[in-house]
Amino acid sequence: VAPLKVGIAGLGTVGAEVVRLIETQGRVLAGRSGRSIRVVAVTARSKAKKRAVDLRGVEWVKDPLALATHPEVDCFVELMGGAGDPALSAVEAALTAGKSVVTANKALLAKHGIKLAKAAEKHGGALNFEAAVGAAIPVIKTLREGLAGTGINRVYGILNGTCNYILTRMEQEGLSFAECLKDAQRLGYAEANPSFDVDGHDTAQKLAILASLAFGTKVAQSAVYVEGISSIAPEDLRAADDLGYRLKLLGVAVRTAKGIEQRVHPTMVPKSSSIAQVMGVTNAVTIDGEGIPPITLVGPGAGGAATASAVVADIADVARGIRANPFGRPISHLRDTKKAPMERH
Ligand code: HSE
Repeated sequence: VAPLKVGIAGLGTVGAEVVRLIETQGRVLAGRSGRSIRVVAVTARSKAKKRAVDLRGVEWVKDPLALATHPEVDCFVELMGGAGDPALSAVEAALTAGKSVVTANKALLAKHGIKLAKAAEKHGGALNFEAAVGAAIPVIKTLREGLAGTGINRVYGILNGTCNYILTRMEQEGLSFAECLKDAQRLGYAEANPSFDVDGHDTAQKLAILASLAFGTKVAQSAVYVEGISSIAPEDLRAADDLGYRLKLLGVAVRTAKGIEQRVHPTMVPKSSSIAQVMGVTNAVTIDGEGIPPITLVGPGAGGAATASAVVADIADVARGIRANPFGRPISHLRDTKKAPMERH
């Protein structure tokens, strides 16, 4: 069987780790997929930058669009980030050319997910994005495949590793917000523009994707109420602590009689609750299904290794020839998202 030929756009922490994993896990991946996986071409902003990966024998392509339409590439891996270009046109071009796409780009999916899924549907490629939410936690697969037969009433959790890391260190070490954010950046958890993390938009994008998969509605980031953590001070955390609570940035999506309610804001959770135990860069997602007790998935939500793990699993699915509906259903079955008024729960 011919190998799956992969092109990677973006060689930051995640991209470099994907190249490394494909190399070190090559035999295991080939065994699982029934064919080998080969990185044939890459592109990134700087060719000169020192990277801890071996790119000998890999073609360097001048820009993402050229890589997306490269005749040698079967699977285009987009790890540049950002809701607009170059990511948008490159992903669109790859899908239109009938190629499969693997991306970790939640901003792109939250804004253009339906348009891109339509292109995948029309031209026959896969559009896989397990790494876009909860990094290594298989939450997309859980909603899309594992719980395909279960009606979902609510999905909520801690979806931003940077914010949870900041809140944890502020609480445990009394450090300032700015100091903790700097460390989150240094460790490769934060977005290129960290205001996406701390102002809650990253959580909103991930929540919008989960809500679509959970409720069969079209992704609609604009339907999410958003409030971040940037104005939280150590005193707020101490005050919550005195009352027996911990502050967490939660994303919550609920099916109501009036539509889908989606919100992101700092929330006081009882210290004895399981969500209060989720510390550091860890994410947690709870899914309330009809007729079954809640299911909670907990794991590393950010960072190069955790994100690359999900990206490589998505590439392996492409190699095995698995092609899921990106949002769980054919696009024509997805309903418009009706924004519900905020209610107390
Ligand atoms: N900046 C994101 C986070 C990266 O901190 O969760 C993972 O999506």
